[in-house]
Amino acid sequence: MAKSQWYKEMSVYQIWPRSFCDSDGDGIGDLKGILSKLDYIKSIGVDAIWFSPLYPSPQKDFGYDIADYKSINPEYGTLEDFKTVLDEAHKRGLKVIMDLVVNHTSDQNKWFLESRKSRDNEYSDYYIWRDGRRNGKKPPNNWLSTFQGKAWEYCKERGQYYLHVFAKEQPDLNMDNPKVREEVKDIMRFWLDMGVDGFREDVITFISKKEGLPNGFPLPVATGIEHYMNGPHLREYLSEFRKVTDEYDCFTVGEAPMMTPSRALKFIKEGDGQLLDMMFHFQHMGADNIVTNWLLTPFRPGHLKNVFAKWQKKMAKGGGWNALYLENHDQPRVVSRYGSEKYRVESAKMLASMCFLQSGTPFIYMGQEIGMTNAKEIDHLETYKDVSTLNNFGMFKALGFSEKSFLKVCHRAARDNARTSMQWDDSPNAGFTTGTPWFYTNPNYKEINVKAAEADENSILNFYRKLLKFRKENDIVKYGSFRMLRTCPRIFAYVREYQGDKMLVINSFSDGEIAFRAPEDFDMSKAELVLSNYESNPVIHNGFMTKPYETRTYLLKN
Ligand code: NOJ
Repeated sequence: MAKSQWYKEMSVYQIWPRSFCDSDGDGIGDLKGILSKLDYIKSIGVDAIWFSPLYPSPQKDFGYDIADYKSINPEYGTLEDFKTVLDEAHKRGLKVIMDLVVNHTSDQNKWFLESRKSRDNEYSDYYIWRDGRRNGKKPPNNWLSTFQGKAWEYCKERGQYYLHVFAKEQPDLNMDNPKVREEVKDIMRFWLDMGVDGFREDVITFISKKEGLPNGFPLPVATGIEHYMNGPHLREYLSEFRKVTDEYDCFTVGEAPMMTPSRALKFIKEGDGQLLDMMFHFQHMGADNIVTNWLLTPFRPGHLKNVFAKWQKKMAKGGGWNALYLENHDQPRVVSRYGSEKYRVESAKMLASMCFLQSGTPFIYMGQEIGMTNAKEIDHLETYKDVSTLNNFGMFKALGFSEKSFLKVCHRAARDNARTSMQWDDSPNAGFTTGTPWFYTNPNYKEINVKAAEADENSILNFYRKLLKFRKENDIVKYGSFRMLRTCPRIFAYVREYQGDKMLVINSFSDGEIAFRAPEDFDMSKAELVLSNYESNPVIHNGFMTKPYETRTYLLKN
């Protein structure tokens, strides 16, 4: 039986639990807090929630270091609390997607605690252990962690090194060991039997490492990545996991750094041999940086346009499906990156239309729907909590940066920007907690919050509601073809076509005015304006001067 494709109809809301809503005043978001916001989430018009990891974890990488795969972090609640959230979400027609982090575990996971004890215990081969070079004095190869520093840590008890491509507290699992793959399948079944509907699979394209672990091309970070990204047995391992998810009609999206469309199709092309439903690639998040978010450049709209157009075209042609996103817990806020804080409301709406009216499944990150911005007031390095931010300081210092100049970089590049308290209202701590927030609340919460957005008919939130409703009701958004128009570089305009209907989406990335002309085959005078971010929308001879960060969507029915 062909797998059902409900995921093509859905939009997803991502929750990063620690900062979403705290019910008990300990300053940390929790499941009861989430429960109290399910109606709000539903009201946005999404169909599913993706939870960043909820499992017990020492929080070295805020849950992406899992100590126990079959339980809930006590800071967030209990398994019973989770079941209640799951049931209540289902009652509201919301599916639930869990984060599956199996490239690595926490170093406090019982498997690792056992594995490190000796070379011959039940778990000794669960991780990637190697002898060092030069009589054990040097790590087994030159690989570097993506979070800075060497990718190997020495363990005295075993007299060996273990591999960690992320923090040293995140040892990589040895997926070549069939027992480890059985564990992964067991974890999947555990949650699927409970009723969850899907998995977002963390750096899943990293799980198979090249035999012999050869030295990598020397790069300043992640040296060796070419030997574990899309590794030799990736397809084989994913197909084992796919068998399990297929038993349940489970949705899967794989996180895939450095992914290109043609490579992605090898995994997500529909039909026999499909291994994942879709992938999160990163190419469009490189429009204001080179290779990593930390090497910043000015925003390049041309890059963004070309990447989106390429993925739209290649997925349609090759039989794949796009995952559409602009924000998540690893990405600084998009209004502060690709939009404008001066034109915050206009640009947040424009970015929403620009991205989510393409073909694919929209993923909206908590706070994106109210236009939350980067935390630019942070003026002490100690305020930051993310391991990647803190580790990067070392590298920047070596390059001659002062703490002050590094802070400026953090204001644009740090993942912490996405992890500030969710801004619910204008009460202290933005209504996120009655206690002291574990991290930081952006002082702009007095103006930017859900309560204010609810009260304003023209808010970003209400724009998201209209947009998601429009997507739901119009198959052209989901299934139409895609054609990017030739325009001035700061305009991204495209036409979608489906069963004779046409949709024109015009987006300006400029804070000035730019002339736009509709293509010959699209008569704007006959089309209906279905979404826009300005109240007055003059049209002259099938064209108009776009206002700052303007977006307009026209529908032309046949
Ligand atoms: C990707 C996750 O999104 C990120 O938050 C995490 O740090 C790394 N994978 C390691 O799990």
